[in-house]
Amino acid sequence: PSPVDANQLVSEFQGIIRKAVGEACRVKVWTSEGLWLCHVDPARLETALLNLALNARDAMPNGGVLDIEMKNVVVGEGAVAGCLPGSYVRLSVRDTGSGMPPEVRNRVFEPFFTTKEVGKGSGLGLSMVYGFVRQSGGHIAIESALGKGTTVSLYLPRATQTPGVEMEDVRSQAFPAGSERVLVVEDNDDLLDLTSAMLTRSGYQVRCARNGTEALRLLRSEEFDLLLSDIVMPNGINGIEVAREARKLNKGIKILLASGYAGDALDRHQAVGEFPIIDKPFRMSELAARLRSILHEA
Ligand SMILES: Nc1ncnc2c1ncn2[C@@H]1O[C@H](COP(=O)(O)OP(=O)(O)OP(=O)(O)O)[C@@H](O)[C@H]1O
Ligand SMILES: [Mg+2]
Repeated sequence: PSPVDANQLVSEFQGIIRKAVGEACRVKVWTSEGLWLCHVDPARLETALLNLALNARDAMPNGGVLDIEMKNVVVGEGAVAGCLPGSYVRLSVRDTGSGMPPEVRNRVFEPFFTTKEVGKGSGLGLSMVYGFVRQSGGHIAIESALGKGTTVSLYLPRATQTPGVEMEDVRSQAFPAGSERVLVVEDNDDLLDLTSAMLTRSGYQVRCARNGTEALRLLRSEEFDLLLSDIVMPNGINGIEVAREARKLNKGIKILLASGYAGDALDRHQAVGEFPIIDKPFRMSELAARLRSILHEA
């Protein structure tokens, strides 16, 4: 965790949220002047925001409004049920969607609890957000009623450090731009959309593949400066095999593999030393910085 300016993080991330929720949902961001820094892991905060935005999108199949609001709040003893008294940056995500009946509302943090069709929801979104907020020493509150929309509020503890060097760090994390041709290979649609949106916005020429077979087809028919591939993918061909084939076809291609989930351990082991790896989950600004440094290597 580090001191994070939520105004800035949300502002930088809003393009990705807009892309994820689609055009039917209007996204409004309400920053707040004089907002305190909060003490959280910025990559996990981005993932949490994306999860909340996707839930809001699913609750508004015919469109609606998604408000994201930041505010300083001082919580007094007993003022917010379950929340320790103290100073927080409250980040609220409000939708005008279907809302939840109490029997759903009461179970949303349970791992694997979902009301979505098989294959649509894993039921892990909110339990991950809950875990993140609790580990950060914060609190999460949900207000929801059937037909009345939903507001999820994250109470993120105020950072106690005085703004200084860390603040500079947070501010300077703009996405470095590029113009190279990048092939992104990722089987998770949300992450693929997110990554390609960020890279396109940063000026890269992006092509996407959802599995190893698609990736190989593109590598054989087009030229790329860089391959960014997930390691573990369905359909038999993993990211390491894609990377090796890419090198055979084009000796000069730069490669970055993404890995992080426990299941990747074995495959990851094979790739260590052979290709550079970025750990998941990563911040988009972190990815942009890694790409720049890899593309600039001789
Ligand atoms: N903004 C919301 N509006 C209405 N219902 C919601 C909202 N957010 C969550 N829910 C309900 O809570 C359930 C659990 O949400 P959660 O994010 O944990 O899992 P999921 O969205 O079903 O699947 P996943 O996020 O893993 O893809 C959802 O299935 C839905 O019924
Ligand atoms: Mg969800």
